[in-house]
Amino acid sequence: MSESPLRLAVLASGRGSNLQAIIDAIEQGRLHARLAVVISNKAAAPALERARKHGAPTIFLDPKATPDREAYDAVILEQLRQHDVGLVALAGYMKIVTRVIIDAYAHRIVNIHPSLLPSFPGLKAQQQALDGGVKVSGCTVHFVEEGVDTGPIICQAAVPVLEGDQAESLEARILVEEHHLYPEAIQLFAEGRLMIEGRRVRIRANHV
Ligand code: GRF
Repeated sequence: MSESPLRLAVLASGRGSNLQAIIDAIEQGRLHARLAVVISNKAAAPALERARKHGAPTIFLDPKATPDREAYDAVILEQLRQHDVGLVALAGYMKIVTRVIIDAYAHRIVNIHPSLLPSFPGLKAQQQALDGGVKVSGCTVHFVEEGVDTGPIICQAAVPVLEGDQAESLEARILVEEHHLYPEAIQLFAEGRLMIEGRRVRIRANHV
């Protein structure tokens, strides 16, 4: 294991259950990272409270205080740099990340999405899966590039769609998998094992 923990920033807008899964993995020693900062565009996001309980620095940045998305992202970027962030994890972050951050943190931003991408990007992915009649859905962790829920896929977990599933029941079962998958993917990044080759991400074997 590398000497110093990965300095992780999490951007979150809401409930923060994935942030909690990350915090739990750090506290249990499954994720060799330190929560350098948690940033939200929502002052009342429960994610901020979860971070505070863990003792991590939190920042609310009001989108209304800046004229456009790029200016907003420039403020975030400044905070990422001030906190010496090595990886940015989006966790229920309901804003589109612009080139301002993507260029500065190329291949160092990850996201989790509740479908097997490239199927069902965007909002209400679980309802999209039900409407599409698929028998299997799941979740995806991917590197972030311009575009909504695009970018090289790091890992996925499959979840069967059951007879009688509603969006809420499917969401709940997918979320269980998200909470396993996201800390594991971040740990792979922390170990330097993710190699991007075109659209594919190769996971190097663990030599330890
Ligand atoms: C998750 O389903 C995640 O995949 C999606 O937004 C939701 C966030 O949930 N991007 P939480 O805030 O982590 O509980």
